[in-house]
Amino acid sequence: MRIAQVGLGAWGANLVRNVDVLAELTWICDSSSERREQLARRHPGARATESVAELLADPELEAVVVATPVPTHYALAKQALEAGKHVFVEKPPTMRAAEMEELVELSERSGLVLMPGHLLLYHPGVRKLKQLVTTGEPGEVLCIYGNRQNLGTIRKDENALWSLGVHDLSVILHLIDEEPSETWAQGNAFLNPGVEDVVFCFLRFPSGKIAHLHLSWLDPHKMRKLTVVGRDKMAVFDDMELERKVTIYEKWPEQKAETFGEWQTRTGDILSPKIPSEEPLRLELEHFLRLVRGGASGSEARDGLAVVRVLERLQDALTRTSS
Ligand SMILES: NC(=O)c1ccc[n+]([C@@H]2O[C@H](COP(=O)([O-])OP(=O)(O)OC[C@H]3O[C@@H](n4cnc5c(N)ncnc54)[C@H](O)[C@@H]3O)[C@@H](O)[C@H]2O)c1
Repeated sequence: MRIAQVGLGAWGANLVRNVDVLAELTWICDSSSERREQLARRHPGARATESVAELLADPELEAVVVATPVPTHYALAKQALEAGKHVFVEKPPTMRAAEMEELVELSERSGLVLMPGHLLLYHPGVRKLKQLVTTGEPGEVLCIYGNRQNLGTIRKDENALWSLGVHDLSVILHLIDEEPSETWAQGNAFLNPGVEDVVFCFLRFPSGKIAHLHLSWLDPHKMRKLTVVGRDKMAVFDDMELERKVTIYEKWPEQKAETFGEWQTRTGDILSPKIPSEEPLRLELEHFLRLVRGGASGSEARDGLAVVRVLERLQDALTRTSS
């Protein structure tokens, strides 16, 4: 399969390394000549260009990976779809729900794959969480909260909601399989004016489940954690752990008739299932290639649209309330 990659920055370099192993990397493209030259040395089989139009004109090219800054995603993904190429676009795929809707419709009309790069959905730890929730092991899910904090990376063209929150939101919507009926966000831009670096979000879902996110690049703790609280068990996905990526706590509240309705807490085993240590990025790109071979997306593009819709609602709340 012949693939081009547009955007060869810090993250793009990881993507292109995998693309070159999994498919035929025929083009690499970046507006920076320095990045083009650096990556051309590592990927000598690919033609390097600064022109997206030039690579899209290649009739043998089947798919394009877009890993440029977020504000450019929509235009580049649209250009590639209009040229008849399948598209993998880094997260968040667009900055507005209307733009993502347009891309989804365009891809569906043209029978092309459009896959947003929601990396965590391909993480074996998150797959385990999804399996737990689907089989009902934690019982009814009551609430989920995410912690995505660190000191840095301090970005200028995406705030903490769009840069960090997009990861947790993609997983929460995937686990709960509903869109929230209520969204609330507050935060502050302490470092770069207009770019919120500390954000708190709250979501309430039609089923009554609730979720919370703490997103920050101004924090002493490096945390990459999602906690799922069920009625019977609780599960934690902690991406900072090397071995215990998922921990299941047999902890639950119980009401016994003889205690006249009083709640008591019960504690059982604490378990860590084995999680394969495969690179999530490799798994994500393999999934994209499978979709391209099959000639159509599954629910990936529409799931990505739901994520952008919720991000947009949270951003509206953030803009109203933050300073
Ligand atoms: N999935 C993840 O875990 C993850 C992690 C980091 C970044 N990302 C995403 O990956 C994308 C890229 O992030 P990054 O950290 O590599 O950014 P970066 O700023 O390091 O790199 C972006 C590159 O795109 C190039 N570029 C900009 N506009 C271009 C254009 N119109 N045509 C061609 N090249 C262009 C720049 O010269 C630069 O080399 C972003 O969407 C980001 O959100 C995803």
